[in-house]
Order: sequence, then structure tokens, then C-alpha cells
Amino acid sequence: MPSKAKPSKKRRASRATAVKSSRAKARGKPAHKKKAASSRRRTGKPARKTSKAKAKSGPKGAKAVRISRAKPGFKLIRRVADMKKYIAELRRHRRSVALVPTMGSLHDGHLALIHEANRLAKVVVVSVFVNPTQFGPHEDLDRYPRDPAGDRRKIRAAGGDVMFFPDTAEMYPDGFQTVVDVTEVTRDYCGASRPGHFRGVATVVAKLLRIVEPDVAVFGEKDYQQLISIRRMARDLNFDVNVVGIPTVREEDGLAMSSRNSYLSPAQRQQATAMFRGLRKAKRLCESGERDAAELGAVVLDLLREERDLEIDYVAVCDPETLERIPEVDREAVLLAAVSVGDTRLIDNIRLGGSTRRRRR
Ligand code: PAJ
Repeated sequence: MPSKAKPSKKRRASRATAVKSSRAKARGKPAHKKKAASSRRRTGKPARKTSKAKAKSGPKGAKAVRISRAKPGFKLIRRVADMKKYIAELRRHRRSVALVPTMGSLHDGHLALIHEANRLAKVVVVSVFVNPTQFGPHEDLDRYPRDPAGDRRKIRAAGGDVMFFPDTAEMYPDGFQTVVDVTEVTRDYCGASRPGHFRGVATVVAKLLRIVEPDVAVFGEKDYQQLISIRRMARDLNFDVNVVGIPTVREEDGLAMSSRNSYLSPAQRQQATAMFRGLRKAKRLCESGERDAAELGAVVLDLLREERDLEIDYVAVCDPETLERIPEVDREAVLLAAVSVGDTRLIDNIRLGGSTRRRRR
């Protein structure tokens, strides 16, 4: 493995910009066009159509053509040693690398992470590994949805360069006995309801960070406690990686996208929308001046209790960094919620107070 030179503060700060302009060059696009494209991605505005593009998209009102971002040279790698060899090769060519860890069965939430990773680094590695150590003994490991062929296609179309797809023996060979435990921020909420879950997550993510040695690792804010615990771990264990969080991608009715949504019956699926409706109502109330955390939480609880099949795990207003509960929203806060619908556990969260702009560090 090549030892990665520790970047200076200046280099770290300009990494994303530098990477962006080198990618524009590599694709032969002038930098101003690249900049316009990136600003469109942020604002969601469509590009002005050229006559060629107009011809492609057909008559007005026709369904938009899904543009593939597939790059040449896509790789499927199953072995840790091969992954490390490939990364060493990339480093020799001074390529920046982004990692998107997933458990597969990819949906648009995952794809948003891949798109962001593509913006931040030259090479995007997406790991697909249903990590057994983060599932409790009575959880859904066996029935967790798996679709490696579909994942491969989606990663490629979304602009990923590598699908890292190890099996369990590759990640946890005989005799494996080391764990990573982030003790404080994982104590409550999902940590209390799923003992050992975050230890499994931190251990596998630490391994992936060692194997891929990315400049950037991209996670979803949907799993907020997970994001905070990975940031903590990266800092505590001196991983030289920028952990980036991406806002939650939702279905049209507001339900946060999740691989587990496929478990829901139509009736459960309908009831599950109460979680986001509750969070949004609490946010509106907060914006109109209500600062009392108990009052804001009660708004969510009331909506959840109206649904017959929902069992509430927790609703909590807390500090966005330490995850300690706060009595009053007198600064930025996050409202976390988790419910069970039948056998399916769903989580969601919303920012309260302060700015909702994406945070990077
Ligand atoms: P998984 O549930 O597959 O999620 C992979 C990544 O996608 C996580 O960072 C998660 O927060 C993000 N994600 C999931 N749904 C999202 C949505 N609707 N919007 C935005 N991002 C979303 O989380 C895991 O896998 C595992 O715990 C893992 C980190 C891979 C470790 O095994």
C-alpha cells in the first residue's frame, strides 16, 4: 500500500475544487461548462436544451430520458487484496477517491450519495456488503433484500467506478475478533433499541476505510446517529477522511427511502408516512416560535399514535453533534424518530432551528 501523504490544511480545503476542475479537463469540457452543470445539480434547474438534446428527448411532454453517467472501465472487485492493489494503482496516478458504503438493494437515496461522491472525487468506490455484525439475532439479516446484478447496473449508471462486493468470509475471516465501539453518541436511541448495532457498523466502516483509504466517505443523514458516530470514529481514530453527509431522499409522499420499505404492506406503507408528517409539523411549529422540546416532540407523538400499526420507539429533540437531549430549541437541533410497523423498523429525522444547509467536515 502506498502511504498517503497527509494533506496540508490548504490542500484539504481546496481538494473538492481541484478535483472538480481536473475532472472537467479529463472529460474535455471547459471549466465554465462544468461549473454551470454543477450549479444546476445543486439548484435542480434543468440544462438549457441544445437542438440535439431536444431531438433526443422527443416531443414536449414525453417522459424525460434518463441520462446515464456511466464511465468506461467499470470494475467489480470481490477481494480485499484486489481492492487494495487497485487503490495503490490509483494513488500512483494521484487520483482522488470517494467511498460510498452501502448494504446494496440500491434506491435513489443511495444513488444521491454516488452522485455527490462523483462530484467530490475522481474515482468512486461503492461497497455493497450486507454486514452481519450490525444485525441483532432476531433481526432481518436473512430476509434483507439483495440484488447484486441490479446494484451493479445502478452503480455504473450513476457514475460509480468500482463496486466492491466482498463476501462475509472476506470481511470476517476465521478468527476475526476486533471491534470498534463509539461509546457515547451510540448509547441512546437506535443504540439502546439495537444493542451491538453501532459496534457492527463502526467495525465494518473502519475496515472499509482501511481497505479503500478514501479522501471522502459519503453517508446519508437519514441514518443520523450512524453519520454522527462515523464522524466521531474517524476523528477519534485519526482516519484521514472527510466524512460528508447528504440530505435524506424521500418518496413523493415524504417517506424516507429505505431498502426496508419493501417489507411494508400497502396499509403499513400508508401509516408509515405519519413519521415525516409529524416531523414536518414539528418543524413548522418550531419555525412559528415554539421552542419547547417536549411540545415539539408531542406533536410528532400525537400523529404517530393515530396510526393503528405503528409502535413508537423514540421521539427526541437533541443536539446535532453530541445527540444529547435538549429541553429547548435555542440553537440548531435535530428531531429524531423511530417506529416499528409490524416487523419493520423505520427511522427518520429533521433539522430544527438554525440553518438546514448541508454540513461538511
Ligand atoms: P444502507 O442502509 O444500505 O445505507 C447506505 C447509505 O445510504 C447510508 O449512508 C445511508 O444513510 C444512506 N441512505 C439510505 N437511505 C437514504 C435516503 N433515503 N436518503 C439519503 N441517504 C440514504 O447504512 C448502511 O447501509 C450500513 O449501516 C453501512 C453504513 C453500509 C455499514 O454496513
